[in-house]
Parts: sequence; structure tokens; C-alpha cells
Amino acid sequence: MTEEGVTLYRGLREVYIDRTTSSFINGKEGKLYYRGYSIDDLAQNCGFEEISYLVMMGELPTASELEAFSKELKSNMGLPQEIVDLITIVKDAHPMDVLRTAISALAGFDSEVDDNSSEATLRKGTKLTAQAPTIVAAHSRIRQGLDPITPDPKLSIAANFLYMLFGTVPDPEDAKLIDKDFVLHAEHGLNASAFGARVAASTQADLHCAVTTGIAVLKGPSHGGAAESVMTMSLEIGDESKAEQYIKDTLDGGGRIMGFGHRVYKAVDPRSLHLQDDLKALGERKGEPKWYSILQKVLEAMQPYARKGICQNVDFFSGAMYFLLDIPEDLFISIFAMGRIPGWTAQVVEQFDNNILLRPRLQYVGELDRKFIQISDR
Ligand SMILES: CC(C)(COP(=O)(O)OP(=O)(O)OC[C@H]1O[C@@H](n2cnc3c(N)ncnc32)[C@H](O)[C@@H]1OP(=O)(O)O)[C@@H](O)C(=O)NCCC(=O)NCCS
Repeated sequence: MTEEGVTLYRGLREVYIDRTTSSFINGKEGKLYYRGYSIDDLAQNCGFEEISYLVMMGELPTASELEAFSKELKSNMGLPQEIVDLITIVKDAHPMDVLRTAISALAGFDSEVDDNSSEATLRKGTKLTAQAPTIVAAHSRIRQGLDPITPDPKLSIAANFLYMLFGTVPDPEDAKLIDKDFVLHAEHGLNASAFGARVAASTQADLHCAVTTGIAVLKGPSHGGAAESVMTMSLEIGDESKAEQYIKDTLDGGGRIMGFGHRVYKAVDPRSLHLQDDLKALGERKGEPKWYSILQKVLEAMQPYARKGICQNVDFFSGAMYFLLDIPEDLFISIFAMGRIPGWTAQVVEQFDNNILLRPRLQYVGELDRKFIQISDR
């Protein structure tokens, strides 16, 4: 051992690296707050535009502030033609790779790209919040050989996303579900992608770098990819009568049940509760109640795990919801990313405000002073 007596915090579990006023997770009781407001109040009363303002600016907007902010969002939803061309070039890539690439490239079109002041970072965060749905929807159409659709300034961001995806003004009920989903994903403490974004910001790289990093980190199945995996699981189960056996076989085989477990929540993720009834109602409205029934049976089969603190998380019901809204499965993580941009932005502003380089250490456990051998002699 070359570095003895070092305390390792593998996975940074339970390590606090700074202070925040952005969000608070009470993992024991299953509670979540954005800027001090309970997610229960916010999910029931606010739309994504209002929540984006709250998360980024720190306060709930007045009616006139919300109107001005919504206008700013809508005026920024368009994309430069060069970005549409870039999306076309990389259209065969995974939607998260396309989103990451397009956001990264947008840095080249933002005159404030290097300005890390709070004001400029918030302006850039607002723009990226507006542009992300346009990127994802444009890519979805381009890869099907269809023309991208220009956003409609009369519609909300969530409604616009569905409109730009499918080319028809969505049912207000469908748009409301996506809106709520964005609200529930807007901010969530020092999750892996926010940490990634903060690491980028801690080097004084700009917001585009931080959001690009956030998207990259979010892509993994242990983080944002679970909604898609839950839907894959539901499709494999196929019928509620087979759910219990499927869960048993997966767990007996050492597998994990997607949509369950969380690093911080040891109780039910409150965000999942806000989607549960909506999914049931959506399934009935679309004449496909079976997905909700399958998930109910999975929940029942996972009861012994819930008692150990492995409960359903936000991804558990969202995948089936997207599926019932006819959204392609590989777009599910991108929806998470679109909702999370205000949270990443808020945390980057906090990081810049009181910056310290995020640079932990690794304990070296390899050999030292090995005899060097010339390449010709190896
Ligand atoms: C999210 C997640 C990565 C958090 O993991 P973590 O805090 O690092 O916890 P660990 O991976 O150390 O797991 C702790 C224990 O719970 C078990 N566990 C955690 N999640 C589980 C799941 N989804 N299914 C079955 N067992 C699970 C682990 O097997 C481990 O058991 P062990 O101590 O007997 O080995 C993990 O719960 C997971 O992989 N969940 C599925 C993916 C998912 O839904 N992600 C979305 C998160 S919002």
C-alpha cells in the first residue's frame, strides 16, 4: 500500500461537497423541495415555465414576471439552420448524443458564451431550456425523413415539444402530462449529472460546457436511462399475470429492477406519486390500461424490497406515460434532460458564485519504482 491511512468515500456516498439553496431531498421521508417549496404544491399548481423561473431565479415569479419570462423562452425556441444541418449529419446517433452535440455546438452561436456572470449564465440557461425540446423534436423528425417543425409561440414548451414531434397541436391533457413531467425533473440536488455539470463549472468552463457534461452523465442507465428500461421490462412482462415471476427471475439472477432504488431516497420518491394516478388515467383514456396494471403488479412484487428502502423512483411510471403518448423509447432520456436544464443552470450559477475547483483524490494502490525497460527489450 503506497498511501496508507486514507479514508475512502467510494461513490462519494453521503459526502457533502458544498451548500445549496436550489433543492432539498429528504430521503428518509420521501420529500423534495425546490427553493424551499414542496414538490407536492409545485406539481399541482405550476407549469414548467413557472418552475424554470423558480429554479433558476430563486423565487416564484409574479404574473408579469412569468409573462415576460415565458415570452423570453418562446422567442428563443428556434434553432440556427447550421444546428439543424448538424442534427441531420448525426441523425443516426442516439437522441442523447444528438442533443449533447447540438447543445455543445450552440456555444458557437451565443455571443455570451464566455461570460460566466450570473446574469449571462441565467440568460444562456433560459435559452437552452427553450432550445432543447426543439433539438429533440427536430432530430426525431429528421431521422424519419420529415421536415422539422417551427415552434408555435402560442403553445407552452411542453405542448410545443409534442407539436414539433408529431406535427399536430396536442391534446391539452397530453401536453399537461409532459409539462408535469418536466416540472418533476427540473432539479434534484447533487445527482451524478448535476455533479458533472458542477465539475465543469468549477474549472470556470462555461454553461454550454456544463450542460453538455450534464447530458453526457445523464445518459447512463443508472441515472436517466431507467425510464426506457422500465418500459422495456413492461414490454417483456407483457401481461400482469407474468409480473411476479419476471421480478423473481430477475432478482434471483442477480439483476436489478429498473425504476427502483435511489442513492438518496430510502422511501418512495415523491415524484413517482405525482405520475401514478396520471398514468392510470392516461392508460384508460388511450384504451391501454394494461401497462399501469403490469406496473402495479411489479410494485406488489417489490414490496419486500420497499421495506428495505428500495422503492419506486421517478422513472418507474414515466416510461409507460411516454410510451402511451407515442413517444419513441430512445427519446425518453432526452425528455428528462429537457426538464433538467433549469436545475443544471441553477447549480452552475451557485458554483460560479462561490467557486472552488472540484478535485478529489484517488488512493494509489499500484506498484512504485518499477524497473524501466526499453521498448526494444520488452
Ligand atoms: C439508482 C441506483 C444506481 C442507486 O444505487 P446505490 O445508491 O449506489 O445503491 P447500491 O447500488 O449500492 O445498492 C444497494 C443495495 O440495494 C440493491 N438495489 C439497489 N437498487 C436495486 C434495484 N433497482 N433492484 C434490486 N436491488 C437493488 C443492490 O443490489 C444493493 O444490494 P446489496 O447491498 O445486497 O448488494 C440503484 O438503486 C439502481 O441501480 N436502480 C435501478 C436504476 C434506476 O432506476 N435508476 C434511476 C434512479 S432515479
